[in-house]
Amino acid sequence: MKIFIDTANLNEIRKAKALGLVDGVTTNPTLLAKEGETAETLIRKISKEVKGPVNVEVTGITCEEIVKEAKVLATWGDEIVIKIPINQEGLKAVRILATEGIQTNVTLLFSASQAILAAKAGATYICPFIGRLDDISFNGLELIQQIREIYDNYDEIETRIIVASVRNPIHVIEAARMGAEIVTIPPAILDQMAKHPLTDRGIAQFLEDAKKIGVKK
Ligand code: G3P
Repeated sequence: MKIFIDTANLNEIRKAKALGLVDGVTTNPTLLAKEGETAETLIRKISKEVKGPVNVEVTGITCEEIVKEAKVLATWGDEIVIKIPINQEGLKAVRILATEGIQTNVTLLFSASQAILAAKAGATYICPFIGRLDDISFNGLELIQQIREIYDNYDEIETRIIVASVRNPIHVIEAARMGAEIVTIPPAILDQMAKHPLTDRGIAQFLEDAKKIGVKK
């Protein structure tokens, strides 16, 4: 399973990179707006920092606008993936960009039917937002299970699942058990994944006992 980091914060990206945990980055306009730089400046910096896909979202509404914008965004780095919200204009744009060899990520995806259409359009990736489904009392992980089952039924589907809107380590564990190719994880959740109270207690105990046997720091 690949881990993408769900942030546009360069320091957080560098921190996760030092741990070997950045196979790619996902951004959206909300994440970019937190950083106080223009989207282009920041995405160019992130692209230099990261070896792997850097996902950038379009803001165009019509197919024509999306395709035009995507072609500009694609020049901001070596491996830019164009995030496109799913609707009919977005799907038309995905098809056109796929034929032109531009990688796409169909985002704001909340149902298995949308996942089928995204795959048929030729999306490189899809981003089902599981946390936002949980927020409104639908089980986001069940959606991942459904999409995995559907995509596995058809050899011709090459679209990869990026589990997004991840809110806790259990989301990551369950997504991995279901065989999602990628999970995009916010930095705070990556921190939580490394922690365990028994690990902390064990380290403290070992350090205490090490003093008794003459081990000095
Ligand atoms: O990658 C999608 C993600 O940024 C959305 O997360 O927490 O705003 O639902 P959230």
